[in-house]
Amino acid sequence: MNPQDIRNILGPELEAVKALVRSRLSSDVPILQDLNMRVAGNSGKFLRPILTLLMARACSGGRVSDDTRLFAAAVEMLHTATLFHDDVADGSDTRRGAPTAMSVFGPVPAVLVGDFWLARAVGLIADSNYHEWGMRAFARTFSDLAEGEMLQQQKASLCDTTEEEYLRIIYCKTASLFRLCAECGAKTVEAPPALFEAASEYSRAMGLAFQIKDDILDFEGGDIGKPAGVDLKERKITLPLLGALRGVSDPQEIRGMVKDIEAHPGNAAVINKLVLEGGGIDYAYRVLHDYVISAIDSLQALPHSRDREMLEELALLNETRKK
Ligand code: IPE
Ligand code: IPE
Ligand code: MG
Ligand code: MG
Repeated sequence: MNPQDIRNILGPELEAVKALVRSRLSSDVPILQDLNMRVAGNSGKFLRPILTLLMARACSGGRVSDDTRLFAAAVEMLHTATLFHDDVADGSDTRRGAPTAMSVFGPVPAVLVGDFWLARAVGLIADSNYHEWGMRAFARTFSDLAEGEMLQQQKASLCDTTEEEYLRIIYCKTASLFRLCAECGAKTVEAPPALFEAASEYSRAMGLAFQIKDDILDFEGGDIGKPAGVDLKERKITLPLLGALRGVSDPQEIRGMVKDIEAHPGNAAVINKLVLEGGGIDYAYRVLHDYVISAIDSLQALPHSRDREMLEELALLNETRKK
């Protein structure tokens, strides 16, 4: 089963979620309306709502509720809000193969548009029958995201990131939201505690694997819809580099080269070569693989179904996806 099969099977549900996102974004401020529709019309992989819908189905014998759709729309809107903000933080000019809001309108409007998407996501949660649970769950993820980004910034100024700190950063900035997506799916179909727990465990491991793959792609490059090589430029020490550092005699020297990268842009090529040829990518793929296996293991608590198989497939895609 490939991602397109999964999208075909979920087709009508995904269309309903996309329509919900568009309708909730309407604004009578023309510049905002124009930008919102442009961004909503060029969505990315839509992975987070897919996760919410699939988990709801896998926990309930194939059913989703109106609340599942509300939460699926809310998680995609929260995700998109974080991308607006992230592109400002990272100074990125391309996203999903198109210019970012920040490159077209500047950083201040881009942050405000992100706030708008965030606010409208909260509005969706407020309309659900699970608003109290939902507010708490989203609040936890909002603060995880901010903590992850702040810790990442701090580590980028010191260039002393350890693997443990790296894992904390990627849990906070990415896996926390994946966890929320799957928990929203389980919650909105009244999954029993054991299944809710399995959903939570699966998506945590899945989210870590997803961000590790994103960090590998940043070194491997290719047609990824956004610039590659950004992490090093931003002095972010990610898992492929941490893997390569395990094999060098003087890791401090390499960390120093990352720290000086702005003054010595030539350092990037040296570090890239080290990561690609020094086993860093292989190391990151090994760690990623362990999280994929752990994600799939967690699913064994769910009854067997085609939806569960699709969740397994989604986890495996982290090993092969090219963007
Ligand atoms: C990008 O997420 C942000 C990360 C967590 C790496 P996606 O790669 O899912 O972005 P889109 O929505 O498909 O563009
Ligand atoms: C991903 O951040 C997580 C968030 C957007 C909060 P990155 O900076 O690693 O993601 P990309 O590579 O820009 O998509
Ligand atoms: Mg970032
Ligand atoms: Mg970024």
